[in-house]
Amino acid sequence: MRAVRVGIIGGGSIAKAHVIGLRSLPSYFGAEGLRVEIPVIADIRRTAAENSAQRYEIDRWVTDWRAVIEDDDIDAVTIATPNHTHAEIAIAALEARKHVLCEKPLADNAGAGESMVDAAQSAGVVDSVHLNYRKIPAIQYAKRLIEAGELGSVLRYRGAFLQDWAANPLVPRSWKFEAGRAGAGPVLAVGCHVVDLARFLVGEISEVSAITKTSIRERPTPRGLSTYEVETDVSEMAPVDTDDMAAMILNFDNGAIGTIETSRVTLGRKNHCFIEINGTQGSIVFDYERMNEIHVATSQTAGLGMARVVIGPEHDGGLVWSLGGLGVGFAETVILHMRSFVKSITTGDVEVATFLDGLRAQEVVQAALASAASGVRELVPRHPIATVPIP
Ligand SMILES: NC(=O)c1ccc[n+]([C@@H]2O[C@H](COP(=O)([O-])OP(=O)(O)OC[C@H]3O[C@@H](n4cnc5c(N)ncnc54)[C@H](O)[C@@H]3O)[C@@H](O)[C@H]2O)c1
Repeated sequence: MRAVRVGIIGGGSIAKAHVIGLRSLPSYFGAEGLRVEIPVIADIRRTAAENSAQRYEIDRWVTDWRAVIEDDDIDAVTIATPNHTHAEIAIAALEARKHVLCEKPLADNAGAGESMVDAAQSAGVVDSVHLNYRKIPAIQYAKRLIEAGELGSVLRYRGAFLQDWAANPLVPRSWKFEAGRAGAGPVLAVGCHVVDLARFLVGEISEVSAITKTSIRERPTPRGLSTYEVETDVSEMAPVDTDDMAAMILNFDNGAIGTIETSRVTLGRKNHCFIEINGTQGSIVFDYERMNEIHVATSQTAGLGMARVVIGPEHDGGLVWSLGGLGVGFAETVILHMRSFVKSITTGDVEVATFLDGLRAQEVVQAALASAASGVRELVPRHPIATVPIP
């Protein structure tokens, strides 16, 4: 079988994960249907395009993403650019009948996300949003426990995604702090992951109340290529108009209730993506910073408190490693997502988070932002989907 030829659009920080994710597939899982080539990378900044092509040993680099989309030799694209560019690039790629993996959040606003979902519905190709946290083996195990009824009926979801990379006010005012390009701050950037886990494990969210806060209101204008590196030249400052912190209170369609907190200024929290789910028979607790374990209480064990389960082949079917306790990291979450994306292309059986999943998460965040502005509880708007048969 011919290799799937993927063009990467955007050569910034997450492009590294896309390259690792795609190139690791045959060695991790065997070459059957998973051979990938990356002939081209695009970045609007020439230096970023050239540097990443050199670093990742990609033969060709371009500064206009349209050159990738117009290339008949390219089967699929991954979109690793700022949020406000996702819709234009993804819709053009879908119209050119390329399979598309778009970074999360799906877009900078739900309206743009709706156009992407509509375009995907009629394109007849694979559309996926990179909500890769679903692929963590401990999360997949939690889903199986919940589906098997081990927790009984779910009563409550407690989610948080707290980081501290922006706690230093000298972290530059990149696009990530600009509502016009990011859409919002961590309530969207990492909130979409923890909202997606809520949907994946508990169900659709119907209503949201929220508060948001911006604690650092200006930052140095960026000079370098990195969005995370502290700026040494602080002669020019630029305003920040995105949230730094948020808290949401949720109602689910199935009657469960929940909370979600997000932040990128919470000192000491690195990638604290935390979830706790409580049901009538038991509970689970997961923390990304210890992603190779999960704490579980079931009807048989709850009297003793939470039991720590070390994730291994008995929980993920030996998909990653065949020995328990070896552990996975961020790279494997991407590799597992890329495996599903490429398998969806080569087999036609879609088994990966789609644009619609990205939109549903975005709609919850949009309702949270509306609630933070209005001060009242908001219904989550849901775009009606007309499923167009795949030609
Ligand atoms: N799935 C995850 O866990 C995860 C983690 C980090 C970032 N992301 C997402 O990845 C996307 C990119 O984030 P990042 O951290 O890599 O940002 P970044 O700023 O490090 O990189 C973005 C790159 O896109 C380039 N770019 C901007 N506009 C472009 C255009 N029109 N055409 C081509 N290139 C363009 C920039 O020059 C830059 O090199 C965002 O949507 C972000 O939310 C996802």
